[in-house]
Amino acid sequence: MKQSIKVTNLHKSYGKVKVLKGVNFKVEKGTILALLGPNGAGKTTTVRILSTLLSYDKGKVQVNGFDVKQDADKVRSVIGLTGQAAAVDELLTGRENLVMMGRLYRLTSASAKQRAEELLKDFDLVDAADRPAKTYSGGMRRRLDLAVSLIAAPPLIFLDEPTTGLDPRSRKAMWKIIENLVKEGTTILLTTQYLEEADQLADNIIVIDGGKVIAEGTAKQLKSKIGKDRLELGFASNKVFQQAKKAIKNQGVDTNDKELLLSIPVKNSSRDVRDILDKLEKEKITVDNIAIHKPTLDDVFLSVTGKEDK
Ligand SMILES: Nc1ncnc2c1ncn2[C@@H]1O[C@H](COP(=O)(O)OP(=O)(O)OP(=O)(O)O)[C@@H](O)[C@H]1O
Ligand SMILES: [Mg+2]
Repeated sequence: MKQSIKVTNLHKSYGKVKVLKGVNFKVEKGTILALLGPNGAGKTTTVRILSTLLSYDKGKVQVNGFDVKQDADKVRSVIGLTGQAAAVDELLTGRENLVMMGRLYRLTSASAKQRAEELLKDFDLVDAADRPAKTYSGGMRRRLDLAVSLIAAPPLIFLDEPTTGLDPRSRKAMWKIIENLVKEGTTILLTTQYLEEADQLADNIIVIDGGKVIAEGTAKQLKSKIGKDRLELGFASNKVFQQAKKAIKNQGVDTNDKELLLSIPVKNSSRDVRDILDKLEKEKITVDNIAIHKPTLDDVFLSVTGKEDK
């Protein structure tokens, strides 16, 4: 079985509010899928359904070949979950949290302790291991939360916004941990508000909006849909800007009259850029600022959802 997750025609309403209206996607074993979507799109809802915590109205959801409705126990035995709200016990120390969760997963006392030591090391929590979790910083708590979800070494992990609220260094550390898990064969479904995170980590990306999957593919495929690189030129005065506007007749030029910016799509970057700059120079038009803008996942997100993901 290649697929770790298979979701077919998934529908979910809360009362009259329809949140998921026929969502379909698959996740292959050993890969990372990033689930994107604006606030309220249904990402957490999807993750909760997949991890058996929430019922759904219609459709079919399989996790490692098990149906989440009929075989909820079996599904639970193959998944780890870290939620948007951390699930650690504040009064217990980091080590105690890990051992307790290991015991809940029926590890022997000795193997729960051993596994706890490994995870404390992997997650850089050894120094803080004997302090109550309530004394941990946000980043340490997230790391403990993820460690707790890994105690039983599940083959499939759900991460709902694993790096929200982390500083850039802790975020990078978390990425490293996630990358290492996948190297060892773990399958991961993560939701994120940071498109850079999806770009960095995910093998595949799906965007949910309005209850449906509105875009999917690799980061590269999604970006190429948005189109070409753009050359952005800034000018020092309105007079020069107007001259430049007249001089450049390329197709698809965007002008920003307020900022005195021209944005020109370029196909064959270096040659097109040179041609445009040559032309301006010939007409003695001075460019104040030059930048090449490559399409980012943010552009993709904006164009498919029509709103910014922040
Ligand atoms: N228990 C509930 N009862 C009623 N409505 C709910 C419930 N849980 C979620 N919703 C609604 O369902 C929609 C989807 O919520 P969900 O938490 O899945 O979104 P999300 O994509 O995870 O958003 P965010 O990016 O803010 O985490 C929202 O409109 C939310 O208000
Ligand atoms: Mg959410």
